[in-house]
Amino acid sequence: MIKKGIILSGGKGTRMSPLTKAVNKQLLPIYDKPLIYYPLSILMLANIRDILIIVNKGQLGQYKKILPNGDNLGIKISYKEQASPKGLPEAFILGEKFIAEDNVALILGDNFFYGQNLTQQLKKNTTLKKGARIILHKVIKPELYGVAKINSNNKVLHIKEKPKKYISDLAITGLYFFDNNVIKYAKKLKPSKRGELEIVDLINIYKKKKNLSADLIGRGGAWLDTGSIEDFYKTSAFVSAIENRQGFKIACLEEIALNNKWINKGNIQKAIKFYGNCEYSNYLKKLV
Ligand code: DAU
Repeated sequence: MIKKGIILSGGKGTRMSPLTKAVNKQLLPIYDKPLIYYPLSILMLANIRDILIIVNKGQLGQYKKILPNGDNLGIKISYKEQASPKGLPEAFILGEKFIAEDNVALILGDNFFYGQNLTQQLKKNTTLKKGARIILHKVIKPELYGVAKINSNNKVLHIKEKPKKYISDLAITGLYFFDNNVIKYAKKLKPSKRGELEIVDLINIYKKKKNLSADLIGRGGAWLDTGSIEDFYKTSAFVSAIENRQGFKIACLEEIALNNKWINKGNIQKAIKFYGNCEYSNYLKKLV
């Protein structure tokens, strides 16, 4: 059972400057809450309670204001700073002590997932004991992502980062499950031409050892990327449409913690005080 998760929440956010000059991208709003709430909610739905958040050097203070140590959510949050964005696999080098002897999930701080059977699917993937598992989703512009070609048994035949030539329309989402070898393999990687350690190179090590599997998010599920300002607005519109139609919030961390019985109604009252008089608090009030 995978019980540890890392949120990679650094990066310079240059594509979103000037918004990201003073504030980390993952703290900017997706509709009514900071972006980081969404990937954190995914780990919590997967029943992962021990979480390392990797942030840009110098931005720890900002994060701790909103997500101190996890006590308020019945989880454990620790932090590590990344000096500069040297690539996604650095998460496992920076997270070596945190991971220790365990298997681990990684989610990118700017990834958004939503869908009917998502929680079940997440829980299924945390049962991974050996190897690596990637989560795929069909997209119209695969050239913007890591891409995987699979056969009818979901066996991964080929993976490539942002391929110029079409190989498949299945994007590799920013949610990954790894066994403990990931630390060792990440340390072996050499920077690519663009000077970064590449997640696809890391996944390819597992593929070569025939230890890679894939799971698909079907058409009833949504995976949205929040890489650009336009994406931020589109994802915000999506969240707004669902929340204002159903009256349920997406990624309300306290609600997930309460449903998981990690916190009680007293904690919700404290959260209401913490957030103050706002729409998010009004939602929490309904829970108690
Ligand atoms: O979103 C899924 C895609 O994420 C995958 O399909 C690709 O295979 C994977 O390489 C990645 O592609 P991106 O182009 O989106 O990666 P980007 O460099 O934008 O980094 C993704 C997030 O991770 C971003 O919010 C910043 C953060 N990050 C990135 C790097 C390289 C860090 O915190 N540290 C880093 O060193």
